[in-house]
Amino acid sequence: MKKLNWGILATGKIAETVAKSMKFMESDKENNMELLAVASRSADKAEDFAKRHGIKRAYSSYEELVSDPDIDVVYIATPMSCHFENTKLCLNSGKHVLCEKSVTLNSDEFKELMALAKEKGLFLMEAMWTKCQPTFRKAKEWVESGKVGKIKMIKADFSNAVPFDKNDRLFIKELGGGAILDLGVYPITFVSAFLGTHPEEIHTYSHIGRTDVDFDNSIILKYKDSYGITFCGFDFEDENKAIIVGDKGRIVMGNWFHCTAETTLYDDMGNVIDKQVMPFKFNGYEYEIEEVNKCIRAGKPESDIIPHSDTLDIMKIMETCLKQTGVEY
Ligand SMILES: NC(=O)c1ccc[n+]([C@@H]2O[C@H](COP(=O)([O-])OP(=O)(O)OC[C@H]3O[C@@H](n4cnc5c(N)ncnc54)[C@H](OP(=O)(O)O)[C@@H]3O)[C@@H](O)[C@H]2O)c1
Repeated sequence: MKKLNWGILATGKIAETVAKSMKFMESDKENNMELLAVASRSADKAEDFAKRHGIKRAYSSYEELVSDPDIDVVYIATPMSCHFENTKLCLNSGKHVLCEKSVTLNSDEFKELMALAKEKGLFLMEAMWTKCQPTFRKAKEWVESGKVGKIKMIKADFSNAVPFDKNDRLFIKELGGGAILDLGVYPITFVSAFLGTHPEEIHTYSHIGRTDVDFDNSIILKYKDSYGITFCGFDFEDENKAIIVGDKGRIVMGNWFHCTAETTLYDDMGNVIDKQVMPFKFNGYEYEIEEVNKCIRAGKPESDIIPHSDTLDIMKIMETCLKQTGVEY
């Protein structure tokens, strides 16, 4: 099995967390991977990041990273507005890509990336880490084996209390800030994973904040026989629970986003039928990295868990939501 060499593009908050996960993966020889390089727009930041994480190569530009012939796959951890150009840069340089969510600012950009990845014969996946986690896979298994019957409603929320900071990308429109692209993508993905990516109706109710991006949103996805009800926002902490309600029972995932993780299956009388506690092997990001390694080794152009078509359809749903909020990038 060929060793896979990873590079990280950008040195922000999530790059820190995922670098730790990659180093954890690297420490298990069975994974046969190495986090070999990191790139930043600043030489100091790249060197500091490399030193802290024990990464051998530090580059002071993204271009240098993708010119390294030893790098097989790049993890992109820049703000949303940069993903399109960064992913093109990597694919055009022959690198497989794992790109942070939301993968682009609109569906046209993602379509272009899908076509480019196909043309180059390279793997491309949005880093929708929650779909790779064991509790999510367990809920999927319960639903697919009919344990909750026909789904009538799904509720999924994701909100955090984030103090306003005009320099934080979350609040900067030019960087793709706003709650739908940053947080809403998770509950929308959750609902779509069970009810499909083509709701009949989409209704978005938002509060637009002082920097002209959406600070919170209530989004209803109406399907033929069911509803997906979601909330996302920077305004307050929530329990971030997800509930899947069917005509034979329900599944409750406590803090499904940062779940270390618990999922419970109830029958239609409210009795607990099964309860699974599935702690992460490390910090939760190891599962998406595992998925990328597995797909690249199998020569697959995309993941079955996070296929391009789902990512594209979810981008289209978010486009509609953003249109309804009046936010234009
Ligand atoms: N999966 C998750 O759980 C999770 C959690 C948080 C965020 N995310 C996603 O990860 C991405 C990055 O989020 P983050 O919170 O890590 O952001 P962040 O802390 O602001 O870091 C972004 C990094 O991107 C680079 N960058 C390149 N062009 C930039 C520009 N014009 N302005 C600012 N930074 C620029 C910078 O690295 P250099 O200066 O080193 O080049 C910066 O440190 C977003 O897409 C976000 O949605 C995912």
